[in-house]
Amino acid sequence: MSSVAYRRFDDDWTSVEAFLSSHGEPSEHARAVFVHEEVEAWLAFDEDELVGWILTHPGRSDDGVQRGFVEDVVVARSHRGHGIARRLMELAEAHYRERGFAGMQLTVRADNAPALRLYASLGYTTVQQRLRMWKQFS
Ligand SMILES: CC(C)(COP(=O)(O)OP(=O)(O)OC[C@H]1O[C@@H](n2cnc3c(N)ncnc32)[C@H](O)[C@@H]1OP(=O)(O)O)[C@@H](O)C(=O)NCCC(=O)NCCS
Repeated sequence: MSSVAYRRFDDDWTSVEAFLSSHGEPSEHARAVFVHEEVEAWLAFDEDELVGWILTHPGRSDDGVQRGFVEDVVVARSHRGHGIARRLMELAEAHYRERGFAGMQLTVRADNAPALRLYASLGYTTVQQRLRMWKQFS
């Protein structure tokens, strides 16, 4: 892996969608956020290859406080474990900090150990756990 360069997202949704699908990551949620929110996103490149992205938007948490919401962070399998996600998170945090926001918010599955470790190492703490409920029509 050569040195990784980080750039602000410039509206090239097509290449991000191709990146997500080539890594087996769903893009529907990111696309919905992209369409409906004032998004701020960053990309990581190894030479010309897109190897990571983070999607965020400004929002208001349940406590009424404005925070930067992280909606998606994905790093190419070939490039994991080299600090790329950490750097993408730091870029997003710096952006919202500079804009005077109080902090960040995100949602993560309880079984996503790599992501949980990443967020914990950046100082994120759990404020709520949710249950998903289904009813089956027989
Ligand atoms: C989660 C993900 C973004 C991490 O990307 P990454 O670039 O490999 O992460 P980094 O190299 O920046 O690692 C930063 C920290 O995350 C944690 N971490 C990353 N990968 C880990 C793994 N496989 N197991 C345990 N902890 C891990 C570690 O605490 C690590 O710090 P350390 O290297 O000092 O121990 C990546 O695994 C990924 O794209 N997963 C699929 C998409 C996903 O689940 N995104 C999160 C949705 S909420």
